[in-house]
Amino acid sequence: MKVAVIGAAGGIGQALALLLKNRLPAGSDLALYDIAPVTPGVAVDLSHIPTPVSIKGYSGEDPTPALEGADVVLISAGVARKPGMDRSDLFNVNAGIVRSLSERIADVCPKALIGIITNPVNTTVAIAAEVLKAKGVYDKNRLFGVTTLDIIRSETFVAELKGKDPSDVRVPVIGGHSGVTILPLLSQVEGVEFTEEEVAALTPRIQDAGTEVVEAKAGGGSATLSMGQAACRFGLALVRAAQGEQDVVECAYVEGDGKYARFFAQPVRLGKNGVEEILDHGPLSAFEQNALDSMLDTLRKDIQLGEEFVK
Ligand code: APR
Repeated sequence: MKVAVIGAAGGIGQALALLLKNRLPAGSDLALYDIAPVTPGVAVDLSHIPTPVSIKGYSGEDPTPALEGADVVLISAGVARKPGMDRSDLFNVNAGIVRSLSERIADVCPKALIGIITNPVNTTVAIAAEVLKAKGVYDKNRLFGVTTLDIIRSETFVAELKGKDPSDVRVPVIGGHSGVTILPLLSQVEGVEFTEEEVAALTPRIQDAGTEVVEAKAGGGSATLSMGQAACRFGLALVRAAQGEQDVVECAYVEGDGKYARFFAQPVRLGKNGVEEILDHGPLSAFEQNALDSMLDTLRKDIQLGEEFVK
């Protein structure tokens, strides 16, 4: 398996690369790419960690050498929001980056499983899909928005609240990957009951958890280490499924049956070719149904923005 991390010199990319160097199966190749000249050095640094994963780093304008032969491509290239930047500035920069990287992927490794981390994920995934489609290589089963950070946050906060071991807690999170579009299905957490007040407090905490990090970092950045961990969990799930492991299930933002929106985060069974089966999210509580109904307009607009950007 060859896994490429694009944006590998960044806060998320370096954390992700470190985790993958330690956790990819023996014999894997890890390729790091970033426009930053430090990237080959990041790879040399990581290469001194004694694991049976070979690693190479590339910088410069062209991601081709990192993408060649890649089975999985994880993209965190972009800009994080900085003081003085509004959301649309962030969008325009990251949308352009995802568009040009998707063009290269279409040309160099069109069969790769692609995980998009670059925000706004609700929109950047639609951009990647439209670019791949225009190139005639779009396979909806191979493109994923990585929403795993919402899942690990949910699992952590539920475990804290209920005094559980976080590794025993599984929380499905559906919808999208920002604000009200993030919907943790707390009614489906096995072995745990929540009061209405707990659900009403925990849901927005999960939705706004990114702000908790931004405020705590006091102008010094956004979530990078937890996002690296989340992307590693998702990337390893793709790799395990691609290597033939059965019953690999994760929630991810994918193009499914379009019941709610063209792209929707939901539990999926992963296989050799990406999404093998879209799984039913199960029954929703009245609170969750209401939250789902009221997010859809926002989510559909986010998707449309991406589709129009490419057109
Ligand atoms: N190709 C490759 N790498 C790029 C490109 C590009 N076209 N443009 C920017 N980069 C790299 C930068 O050089 C930098 O190393 O992307 C990296 C981004 O790293 P950080 O600025 O540290 O940002 P990070 O916190 O990692 O977040 C990156 O992920 O969740 C999202 O909102 C977040 O969109 C942001 C992205």
